[in-house]
Amino acid sequence: MKTKTQSEAVRFVEDKIRSMRDNSSLKGKAIRNRTIELSKKEMPTYKKDLLKINKKVDIKQILNKTISQNVFQTMDFLPSAFVDLLFIDPPYNITKTFNENCFKEMSINDYAKWMDDWLKKMVRFLKPTASIYICGDWRSSAAVQLVCEKHFKIRNRITFEREKGRGAKQNWKNNSEDIWFCTLSNDYYFNPEAVKLKRKVLAPYRENGIAKDWMQDDETKYRWTYPSNVWTDITIPFWSMSENTPHPTQKPEKLLAKIILASSKQGDVILDPFAGVGTTGVVAKKLKRNFVMIEMDETYCLYAQKRLAMAESESTIQGYSDGVFWERNALSEIKKSSLLLDKKREVGNRFKILG
Ligand SMILES: C[S@@+](CC[C@H](N)C(=O)[O-])C[C@H]1O[C@@H](n2cnc3c(N)ncnc32)[C@H](O)[C@@H]1O
Repeated sequence: MKTKTQSEAVRFVEDKIRSMRDNSSLKGKAIRNRTIELSKKEMPTYKKDLLKINKKVDIKQILNKTISQNVFQTMDFLPSAFVDLLFIDPPYNITKTFNENCFKEMSINDYAKWMDDWLKKMVRFLKPTASIYICGDWRSSAAVQLVCEKHFKIRNRITFEREKGRGAKQNWKNNSEDIWFCTLSNDYYFNPEAVKLKRKVLAPYRENGIAKDWMQDDETKYRWTYPSNVWTDITIPFWSMSENTPHPTQKPEKLLAKIILASSKQGDVILDPFAGVGTTGVVAKKLKRNFVMIEMDETYCLYAQKRLAMAESESTIQGYSDGVFWERNALSEIKKSSLLLDKKREVGNRFKILG
């Protein structure tokens, strides 16, 4: 075998790196950067799965599909009463570029009008027992509340801490977002058992030597708590997370998992009309629900398809494992708990074999 001279070897490595970068949509990617990439080569494969609709469709034609078009040009063609859970993450009322389109900040009244223009049409898609979740930040929330009040029964406003972004010099850094939880009627499904939190107990209290409201696994003391409307365990996707994409406002899979587990059953249908890179569909698929997604940017739709394909072989949701929602940065506890669970299963299996 011919050995390479030093300069040939250097050129070889440089060519390899260049070709890896050319295949990548993210030039100059750092080694630990796990952001999902979409190469030009794979685009036609994912594009084949996208839907365009221009006449009335039934649920079978759109189930578990991504509709790649403007929601305003889609709504009239969708069936009635097919949605169990409607999750809406619209552009917030700030000027923001979403790939090839730019959403322009407007007055709060105009934003409320823009919202109402699509929301009033979506009421027709809902089953009588449906739940609705609508996201917003402090600039949009007042409009979200007013418009929701017109069409739904508002149940709550969830606020989640979004630990991302640099501090602001002239203002308080914006570290929170809202999700308005509504239902169409008083008959709705809500399962708080499915979204309990496992929290570390810092000051374990005993009464007469007996642990009060807490348990112990190995040396970790913990407590199960029902979730409140303040969520502090959410991590906004960033470059070293395997769910991250180049979308500027992608929602975390863990956040969708909470909403989907609390407000839908296996086999239910979830609609996301501003789907971005498909977080709703991906989590629905991982949790055995059905979805319909609408997104006007084709590149984002292709990312959604790629993530759906990846979910075939990777069904984990970061921060949610073995039916448990963990606090932020609890990776070592999650690993410990999984090992313990594996041990328990192994012992259980041995007993089954012996019995
Ligand atoms: C806040 S992002 C949603 C992100 C999404 N939740 C995710 O996790 O990827 C809003 C999305 O709405 C899309 N969008 C804006 N106006 C739209 C319209 N009229 N029809 C369909 N999609 C639209 C944007 O392209 C953007 O991707």
